[in-house]
Amino acid sequence: MTARTPSTSLLGLGAALALSLTLLPACEGEKAGDGGKTADKADAGKAGDAKVEPTKAEKPAAEWKWTLPEGLTDPPAVPEDNPMSAAKVELGHKLFMDKRLSFDGSRSCYSCHQNELGNADGRKTALGAGDKPLGRNTPTIWNVGYHDKGLYWDGRAATLEKQAIGAWKGGNMGVGADNLDAKAKEIGALPEYAEAFASVFGVEEGEAVTPDQVAMALSAYERTLLCGDTAFDKGEMSDAAKRGWDLFRGKASCSTCHSGDNFSDGGYHDVGFAHDDSGALIEGADVGRGKPAKDEGENYKFRTPTLRNVSKTAPYFHDGRTASLEEAVRYMAAGGNAKAPGLDQNMRDTSLSDAEIADLVAFLESLACTGSLEVIGDQSVAGIPEAAAPAEGAAPADEAQKAG
Ligand code: HEC
Ligand code: HEC
Repeated sequence: MTARTPSTSLLGLGAALALSLTLLPACEGEKAGDGGKTADKADAGKAGDAKVEPTKAEKPAAEWKWTLPEGLTDPPAVPEDNPMSAAKVELGHKLFMDKRLSFDGSRSCYSCHQNELGNADGRKTALGAGDKPLGRNTPTIWNVGYHDKGLYWDGRAATLEKQAIGAWKGGNMGVGADNLDAKAKEIGALPEYAEAFASVFGVEEGEAVTPDQVAMALSAYERTLLCGDTAFDKGEMSDAAKRGWDLFRGKASCSTCHSGDNFSDGGYHDVGFAHDDSGALIEGADVGRGKPAKDEGENYKFRTPTLRNVSKTAPYFHDGRTASLEEAVRYMAAGGNAKAPGLDQNMRDTSLSDAEIADLVAFLESLACTGSLEVIGDQSVAGIPEAAAPAEGAAPADEAQKAG
C-alpha cells in the first residue's frame, strides 16, 4: 500500500493541475481548489442504507478515509452496496494473496499481478490455473478502481465485483461457475477467515460464505491500489520527460484517448491490429469490444489502457504483441494501421522524429508507480513470467472472453 499524505508543495500541486488539465495546458496554474486531496467523502451518509447489511461488528463505512497520492484528484467510485471499511480491505488483501482460491491451489490473484512485473505478469498472454494458456495480456492492477466504465480489455465486466467473480470462476483461477459456491464456502470456513467474514459481512456460525462476499472484499482491496506520487506527479521529470509530456498532450495527441489522472478515457478504440498491411482482416482476430457489446460496429475495439506503470508492464497491447515500450510508442505515434477499415479517427501519423519518440518514452517512464503491494506468503508460480520463448498453443482469442 502506498497511500501517503499528499504534499502541498507547489511543484506537486502544479503537476496535479497540469494533469487534470491535460487538454488545456494554457490554463495551467489558473485552477486552484483541488489541493485538498485527502478525501473522506466516499461513503459518508451511505452506510446506513447500504443494501448489504453491515454487522454490529463492522465499523461504519463513513469512517473510511482516503489518502490520495499526488496526481489523483478524486478517490475511485465505490458502489453503494459495497462500502469501504478497513476490515474489509484487510480481508480482501489476504484473499488476493491466497493461492487456495484457485481450483488447483496453484496461483493467487497476485500471481499474475506481481510487483516485480509492474503488477502484471511479464507474459505475452496469461497462463491460467492448470497451466491453461489464455488469449490476452495481463494489465497492471494499479488504479483499477478508476476504470469505472468497464474492466478488461473489452470492458465486459461492469464493476470490480463482477470482474472478480469472472477471474475466479474463469480461466485465470479455473474454479468454474458450478464450483464457485462450494469454493467460497470452503475458503470462508478456514479458521483464519471465519472471523473476518463474520465481522465484515455478518456471516453467522455454520452459514456459508458466498462468492459475492469474496468478490466484494477483493474489490474493496483493489480500490485501495492507487498509483500516484510518480516523478510526473511530483514535478520531478527529466528534461526529456518534460518534452515528452508536451508532445503527449500536444503534437502527438496521445491525450485524446489517454486522458485524465489515469491516462485512460475508458473508451473503446480500434487501433488497427485486426487487419494486415493490405487492410485484410486477419483470420481469428480478437473481436474485442464487439463481443460483450453484441454489436459488430464495436468489433476490434479495445479499452484504452492506463499508462501509469507502463514502462514496467512489457510486453504491450491486448495480445502482448509488442516487446518494447519504444516499439509500442512508435506504433501509436505513427497512427496505427492506416489500412484498417475501422481505424479510430483519432489515430493519425504525427511524423515524430526518433528524438521525439525517445522523449515520449522518457515521459512514460516518469509514470512508473512508486508503491508495491504487500505480499503475503510464497507467490511464485512456474511459467510466470514466461521463459524467453513465447508460449506455444495459446488459446484462440475467444478463450479470453471465457477466461474471466
Ligand atoms: C492467470 C493470470 C491471472 C490471474 C490468476 C488473475 N488475473 Fe487478473 N487479469 C489477467 C488477465 C489476462 C486480464 C485481462 C483479461 C481480458 O481483458 O480479457 C486480467 C484483468 C484483470 C482486471 C481488469 C484490469 C483492467 O484494466 O481492466 C482486474 C481488476 C483483475 N484482473 C483482478 C484480478 C483478481 C481479483 C484476480 C483473482 C480473483 C485475478 N485478477 C487473477 C490475468 C490474471
Ligand atoms: C484513438 C485513441 C488512442 C490514441 C490517440 C492513442 N492511444 Fe495508446 N492505446 C489506445 C488503445 C485502445 C490501446 C490498446 C490497444 C490494443 O491493445 O488493442 C492503446 C495502447 C497503448 C499502449 C500499450 C499499453 C499497454 O499497457 O499495453 C501504449 C504504450 C500507448 N497506447 C501509448 C500511446 C501514445 C504514446 C500515444 C500518442 C502517440 C497514444 N497511445 C495514442 C488508444 C489510443
